[in-house]
Amino acid sequence: MSYGFLDIAMTPSVRAAQAEMGADAQWEAFSGNRSFDRFTANEATFLAARDSFYMASVSEDGWPYVQHRGGPAGFLKMVDDRTLAFADYRGNRQYISTGNLAANDRACLILMDYPRRARLKIYAHVEKLAMDANPALTELVMDEGYKARAERIFRLRLEAFDWNCPQHITPRFTEREIEQAVRPLHERLAQLEAENAALQERLGKIGDA
Ligand SMILES: Cc1cc2nc3c(=O)[nH]c(=O)nc-3n(C[C@H](O)[C@H](O)[C@H](O)COP(=O)(O)O)c2cc1C
Repeated sequence: MSYGFLDIAMTPSVRAAQAEMGADAQWEAFSGNRSFDRFTANEATFLAARDSFYMASVSEDGWPYVQHRGGPAGFLKMVDDRTLAFADYRGNRQYISTGNLAANDRACLILMDYPRRARLKIYAHVEKLAMDANPALTELVMDEGYKARAERIFRLRLEAFDWNCPQHITPRFTEREIEQAVRPLHERLAQLEAENAALQERLGKIGDA
């Protein structure tokens, strides 16, 4: 089989769990091609619309650590079909992800599109770059007008990605998405209110006559 994400994820203990649940044959028999080691236009479109993701790193003690990263839509940039990058903004100054990645450059990202009920998982090696290390990359990751202080750039080298099914994803919408969806209703309401006011005025005049 060619299934890049599972090649990484399926450690001996994972295989043992699959065997225990009778699922090992399913994966041994997998004959499809899901190497997914290069992003396509599909992932580019998906990534360009994301304004957040979750990134897991691993501590030196083996503890997983997941943190949220947010920014303007598309702040996780596709540099090329195997490389992503984003500006890491100043936060609570704990630097847990930064420290973890210095000791172990492996990360796993999950990106959610709640309205469309889609999720993308990414395995990558992460490299930390100073803001002035690569001017072209800095220009790419800095979103003009976004109020945040970028402290470093994380550059991610793709190992494999995978798409998950929509099961158990409840659609959720941002304020902006809701505002866009209800705008025609507000406009129609305003129009009906204006028509109603004009009608009331005419009726009042008829009543006065
Ligand atoms: C003033 C301030 C306070 C924050 N406090 C928290 C917090 O208590 N817990 C948390 O998870 N994130 C907090 N954040 C967000 C994190 O600092 C931010 O997500 C950062 O990127 C976390 O990086 P790290 O978890 O890799 O150290 C805070 C951000 C700011 C600006």
